[in-house]
Amino acid sequence: MATRSGGDAGFRPAWSLAPPATVTARGTQRAVPNVPFGQSRASPGYAPPVASHSPGAGGRPPDVRLRRLRTDELSACELYAIRALLAAAFGTDEDERFTDDDWEHAVGGMHVVLDRGGEIVAHAAVVERRLEVDGRPLRTGYVEAVATAPTHQRTGLGTRLMRDVASYLADHFPLGALGTGSHGFYERLGWLTWRGPSSVRTATGERRTPDEDGYIMVLPTPTSPPLDLSSPISCEWRAGDVW
Ligand SMILES: CC(C)(COP(=O)(O)OP(=O)(O)OC[C@H]1O[C@@H](n2cnc3c(N)ncnc32)[C@H](O)[C@@H]1OP(=O)(O)O)[C@@H](O)C(=O)NCCC(=O)NCCS
Repeated sequence: MATRSGGDAGFRPAWSLAPPATVTARGTQRAVPNVPFGQSRASPGYAPPVASHSPGAGGRPPDVRLRRLRTDELSACELYAIRALLAAAFGTDEDERFTDDDWEHAVGGMHVVLDRGGEIVAHAAVVERRLEVDGRPLRTGYVEAVATAPTHQRTGLGTRLMRDVASYLADHFPLGALGTGSHGFYERLGWLTWRGPSSVRTATGERRTPDEDGYIMVLPTPTSPPLDLSSPISCEWRAGDVW
Protein backbone atom coordinates (compact mmCIF):
# COMPACT_ATOMS: atom_id res chain seq x y z
CA MET A 1 0.00 0.00 0.00
CA ALA A 2 1.63 3.22 -1.15
CA THR A 3 1.72 6.24 1.09
CA ARG A 4 1.38 9.77 -0.23
CA SER A 5 5.04 10.45 0.37
CA GLY A 6 6.22 7.06 -0.91
CA GLY A 7 7.88 6.53 -4.27
CA ASP A 8 9.64 9.89 -4.52
CA ALA A 9 13.07 9.58 -3.04
CA GLY A 10 14.14 13.01 -4.32
CA PHE A 11 12.00 15.90 -3.04
CA ARG A 12 11.29 15.88 0.69
CA PRO A 13 9.13 18.79 1.83
CA ALA A 14 9.84 20.02 5.34
CA TRP A 15 6.62 18.52 6.67
CA SER A 16 7.60 15.01 5.53
CA LEU A 17 10.62 14.96 7.81
CA ALA A 18 10.46 13.00 11.04
CA PRO A 19 11.57 14.73 14.25
CA PRO A 20 15.24 14.28 15.15
CA ALA A 21 16.00 10.75 16.33
CA THR A 22 17.08 12.09 19.70
CA VAL A 23 13.58 13.35 20.46
CA THR A 24 11.87 11.09 22.95
CA ALA A 25 8.20 11.05 23.72
CA ARG A 26 8.42 12.87 27.02
CA GLY A 27 11.47 14.99 26.33
CA THR A 28 10.37 16.60 23.13
CA GLN A 29 9.74 20.13 24.29
CA ARG A 30 13.31 20.40 25.44
CA ALA A 31 14.98 18.48 22.61
CA VAL A 32 13.37 20.39 19.74
CA PRO A 33 15.12 23.68 19.02
CA ASN A 34 12.72 26.48 19.75
CA VAL A 35 14.51 28.98 17.59
CA PRO A 36 12.50 30.80 14.92
CA PHE A 37 13.43 29.48 11.50
CA GLY A 38 16.25 31.49 9.92
CA GLN A 39 17.64 32.56 13.30
CA SER A 40 20.24 31.00 15.51
CA ARG A 41 20.34 31.19 19.27
CA ALA A 42 22.98 33.88 18.79
CA SER A 43 20.75 35.99 16.49
CA PRO A 44 19.95 39.50 17.70
CA GLY A 45 16.43 39.58 19.03
CA TYR A 46 16.24 35.85 19.76
CA ALA A 47 14.83 35.22 23.21
CA PRO A 48 15.27 31.74 24.69
CA PRO A 49 12.04 29.85 25.32
CA VAL A 50 10.43 30.15 28.71
CA ALA A 51 10.15 26.88 30.62
CA SER A 52 6.65 25.38 30.56
CA HIS A 53 5.42 26.60 33.91
CA SER A 54 7.83 29.45 34.57
CA PRO A 55 6.15 32.76 35.25
CA GLY A 56 6.77 35.51 32.74
CA ALA A 57 7.98 39.00 33.59
CA GLY A 58 6.42 40.33 36.78
CA GLY A 59 5.50 36.80 37.95
CA ARG A 60 2.60 36.45 35.48
CA PRO A 61 2.36 33.32 33.33
CA PRO A 62 3.45 34.00 29.73
CA ASP A 63 0.57 34.81 27.38
CA VAL A 64 -0.75 32.17 25.05
CA ARG A 65 -0.68 33.16 21.39
CA LEU A 66 -3.04 31.56 18.87
CA ARG A 67 -2.10 31.44 15.21
CA ARG A 68 -3.68 29.96 12.09
CA LEU A 69 -1.11 28.96 9.50
CA ARG A 70 -1.19 26.89 6.34
CA THR A 71 1.35 24.07 6.25
CA ASP A 72 3.63 25.96 3.88
CA GLU A 73 3.61 28.96 6.22
CA LEU A 74 5.07 26.95 9.09
CA SER A 75 8.84 26.98 9.41
CA ALA A 76 10.82 23.73 9.46
CA CYS A 77 11.47 24.33 13.19
CA GLU A 78 7.76 24.76 13.87
CA LEU A 79 6.93 21.60 11.91
CA TYR A 80 9.48 19.65 13.96
CA ALA A 81 8.07 21.09 17.17
CA ILE A 82 4.49 20.22 16.20
CA ARG A 83 5.41 16.70 15.22
CA ALA A 84 7.34 16.23 18.47
CA LEU A 85 4.37 17.58 20.43
CA LEU A 86 2.08 15.06 18.71
CA ALA A 87 4.49 12.20 19.42
CA ALA A 88 4.61 13.18 23.09
CA ALA A 89 0.85 13.67 23.45
CA PHE A 90 -0.18 10.42 21.76
CA GLY A 91 2.53 8.39 23.51
CA THR A 92 4.20 5.15 22.50
CA ASP A 93 1.34 2.65 22.86
CA GLU A 94 1.13 0.80 19.52
CA ASP A 95 -2.59 1.53 19.05
CA GLU A 96 -2.38 5.19 20.04
CA ARG A 97 0.99 6.42 18.78
CA PHE A 98 1.11 9.15 16.16
CA THR A 99 2.28 7.48 12.92
CA ASP A 100 3.82 8.73 9.69
CA ASP A 101 0.42 8.25 8.03
CA ASP A 102 -1.22 10.33 10.76
CA TRP A 103 1.26 13.10 10.02
CA GLU A 104 0.57 12.90 6.28
CA HIS A 105 -3.14 13.27 7.09
CA ALA A 106 -2.44 16.39 9.14
CA VAL A 107 -0.57 18.41 6.53
CA GLY A 108 -1.69 20.32 3.47
CA GLY A 109 -4.42 22.39 5.09
CA MET A 110 -4.74 24.85 7.95
CA HIS A 111 -3.05 24.51 11.34
CA VAL A 112 -4.20 26.15 14.54
CA VAL A 113 -1.22 26.51 16.85
CA LEU A 114 -1.03 27.76 20.42
CA ASP A 115 2.30 28.83 21.79
CA ARG A 116 3.25 29.99 25.20
CA GLY A 117 6.52 31.69 25.99
CA GLY A 118 7.85 30.69 22.54
CA GLU A 119 6.98 27.01 22.97
CA ILE A 120 4.28 25.34 20.86
CA VAL A 121 1.93 23.81 23.42
CA ALA A 122 -1.17 22.78 21.45
CA HIS A 123 -2.05 22.01 17.85
CA ALA A 124 -4.91 21.02 15.56
CA ALA A 125 -5.09 20.74 11.78
CA VAL A 126 -8.00 21.06 9.37
CA VAL A 127 -7.73 19.38 5.98
CA GLU A 128 -10.34 19.32 3.26
CA ARG A 129 -12.00 15.97 2.53
CA ARG A 130 -15.11 14.91 0.67
CA LEU A 131 -17.48 12.99 2.90
CA GLU A 132 -20.72 11.59 1.58
CA VAL A 133 -23.74 11.64 3.86
CA ASP A 134 -26.51 9.39 2.67
CA GLY A 135 -24.89 9.51 -0.78
CA ARG A 136 -24.70 13.32 -0.82
CA PRO A 137 -21.16 14.75 -1.22
CA LEU A 138 -20.16 17.32 1.37
CA ARG A 139 -16.95 19.34 1.31
CA THR A 140 -15.77 18.73 4.85
CA GLY A 141 -13.19 20.33 7.12
CA TYR A 142 -11.66 17.22 8.65
CA VAL A 143 -9.86 17.79 11.94
CA GLU A 144 -6.61 15.94 12.55
CA ALA A 145 -3.72 15.86 14.99
CA VAL A 146 -5.43 17.51 17.96
CA ALA A 147 -3.10 17.55 20.94
CA THR A 148 -1.94 19.53 23.93
CA ALA A 149 1.57 18.98 25.28
CA PRO A 150 1.34 16.55 28.23
CA THR A 151 2.72 19.11 30.67
CA HIS A 152 -0.02 21.59 29.70
CA GLN A 153 -3.07 19.32 29.53
CA ARG A 154 -6.22 20.11 31.51
CA THR A 155 -5.44 23.83 31.58
CA GLY A 156 -8.00 24.82 28.95
CA LEU A 157 -5.67 24.99 25.94
CA GLY A 158 -7.42 22.19 24.02
CA THR A 159 -10.74 23.96 24.51
CA ARG A 160 -9.35 27.27 23.29
CA LEU A 161 -7.82 25.53 20.29
CA MET A 162 -11.02 23.71 19.33
CA ARG A 163 -13.14 26.85 19.72
CA ASP A 164 -11.00 28.48 17.06
CA VAL A 165 -11.17 25.36 14.90
CA ALA A 166 -14.98 25.52 15.16
CA SER A 167 -14.94 29.15 14.07
CA TYR A 168 -12.68 28.30 11.11
CA LEU A 169 -14.96 25.43 10.10
CA ALA A 170 -18.04 27.63 10.38
CA ASP A 171 -16.49 30.18 8.01
CA HIS A 172 -15.20 27.73 5.40
CA PHE A 173 -17.05 24.39 5.31
CA PRO A 174 -20.58 22.99 5.24
CA LEU A 175 -19.45 20.32 7.72
CA GLY A 176 -16.73 19.59 10.25
CA ALA A 177 -15.77 16.01 11.08
CA LEU A 178 -13.16 13.98 12.96
CA GLY A 179 -12.50 10.51 14.30
CA THR A 180 -11.91 10.12 18.04
CA GLY A 181 -12.26 8.01 21.14
CA SER A 182 -12.33 11.14 23.34
CA HIS A 183 -15.99 12.00 22.74
CA GLY A 184 -16.41 13.82 26.05
CA PHE A 185 -13.85 16.45 25.13
CA TYR A 186 -15.59 17.29 21.84
CA GLU A 187 -19.22 16.92 23.00
CA ARG A 188 -18.76 19.85 25.40
CA LEU A 189 -17.91 21.92 22.32
CA GLY A 190 -20.96 21.03 20.26
CA TRP A 191 -19.63 18.03 18.34
CA LEU A 192 -22.13 15.23 17.67
CA THR A 193 -21.46 11.51 17.42
CA TRP A 194 -22.41 10.01 14.06
CA ARG A 195 -24.63 7.00 14.72
CA GLY A 196 -25.06 5.67 11.19
CA PRO A 197 -22.91 3.06 9.41
CA SER A 198 -19.52 4.24 8.15
CA SER A 199 -17.71 3.23 4.95
CA VAL A 200 -14.75 4.10 2.80
CA ARG A 201 -14.97 4.68 -0.94
CA THR A 202 -12.24 2.78 -2.79
CA ALA A 203 -11.32 2.28 -6.44
CA THR A 204 -13.22 -0.99 -6.32
CA GLY A 205 -16.32 0.32 -4.58
CA GLU A 206 -17.57 1.23 -1.13
CA ARG A 207 -16.41 -0.86 1.83
CA ARG A 208 -17.88 -0.79 5.32
CA THR A 209 -15.60 0.34 8.17
CA PRO A 210 -17.51 -1.18 11.11
CA ASP A 211 -14.64 -0.62 13.55
CA GLU A 212 -15.07 3.13 13.04
CA ASP A 213 -18.81 3.19 13.76
CA GLY A 214 -19.45 5.37 16.79
CA TYR A 215 -15.99 6.98 16.62
CA ILE A 216 -16.85 9.64 14.03
CA MET A 217 -18.04 13.02 15.20
CA VAL A 218 -19.39 15.93 13.19
CA LEU A 219 -19.81 19.63 13.78
CA PRO A 220 -22.66 21.23 11.84
CA THR A 221 -21.88 24.72 10.54
CA PRO A 222 -24.16 27.56 9.38
CA THR A 223 -24.01 26.16 5.82
CA SER A 224 -24.70 22.52 6.74
CA PRO A 225 -27.68 20.84 5.12
CA PRO A 226 -30.13 19.07 7.46
CA LEU A 227 -28.21 16.09 8.88
CA ASP A 228 -29.63 12.73 9.90
CA LEU A 229 -26.98 11.35 12.25
CA SER A 230 -28.22 7.80 11.72
CA SER A 231 -27.74 7.81 7.95
CA PRO A 232 -24.74 6.21 6.17
CA ILE A 233 -21.52 8.24 5.99
CA SER A 234 -18.45 7.58 3.84
CA CYS A 235 -15.02 9.06 3.22
CA GLU A 236 -12.57 8.79 0.36
CA TRP A 237 -9.79 6.22 0.73
CA ARG A 238 -6.36 7.21 2.05
CA ALA A 239 -3.34 5.31 3.39
CA GLY A 240 -3.34 4.63 7.14
CA ASP A 241 -6.51 5.24 9.11
CA VAL A 242 -9.15 6.14 6.55
CA TRP A 243 -11.22 7.99 9.16
C1 LIG B 1 -7.67 15.58 24.26
C2 LIG B 1 -6.74 16.76 24.54
C3 LIG B 1 -6.39 17.46 23.23
C4 LIG B 1 -7.46 17.74 25.47
O1 LIG B 1 -6.63 18.89 25.60
P1 LIG B 1 -6.56 19.74 26.96
O2 LIG B 1 -5.78 20.96 26.67
O3 LIG B 1 -6.11 18.87 28.06
O4 LIG B 1 -8.10 20.08 27.14
P2 LIG B 1 -8.79 21.11 28.17
O5 LIG B 1 -7.85 21.47 29.28
O6 LIG B 1 -9.35 22.22 27.37
O7 LIG B 1 -9.95 20.17 28.74
C5 LIG B 1 -11.14 20.71 29.11
C6 LIG B 1 -12.09 19.59 29.48
O8 LIG B 1 -12.21 18.64 28.45
C7 LIG B 1 -12.40 17.34 29.02
N1 LIG B 1 -11.28 16.51 28.57
C8 LIG B 1 -9.96 16.84 28.48
N2 LIG B 1 -9.25 15.83 27.98
C9 LIG B 1 -10.12 14.83 27.73
C10 LIG B 1 -10.00 13.52 27.17
N3 LIG B 1 -8.81 13.02 26.78
N4 LIG B 1 -11.11 12.78 27.05
C11 LIG B 1 -12.31 13.27 27.43
N5 LIG B 1 -12.49 14.49 27.96
C12 LIG B 1 -11.42 15.27 28.11
C13 LIG B 1 -12.41 17.52 30.51
O9 LIG B 1 -13.77 17.68 30.90
C14 LIG B 1 -11.69 18.82 30.70
O10 LIG B 1 -12.13 19.52 31.80
P3 LIG B 1 -11.48 19.25 33.26
O11 LIG B 1 -9.98 19.35 33.09
O12 LIG B 1 -12.06 20.35 34.09
O13 LIG B 1 -11.91 17.88 33.65
C15 LIG B 1 -5.46 16.30 25.29
O14 LIG B 1 -5.85 15.52 26.40
C16 LIG B 1 -4.49 15.49 24.46
O15 LIG B 1 -3.62 16.05 23.79
N6 LIG B 1 -4.61 14.14 24.51
C17 LIG B 1 -3.71 13.27 23.76
C18 LIG B 1 -3.95 13.31 22.29
C19 LIG B 1 -5.41 13.06 21.96
O16 LIG B 1 -6.03 12.14 22.48
N7 LIG B 1 -5.97 13.91 21.07
C20 LIG B 1 -7.35 13.84 20.65
C21 LIG B 1 -7.57 12.68 19.79
S1 LIG B 1 -8.84 12.95 18.62
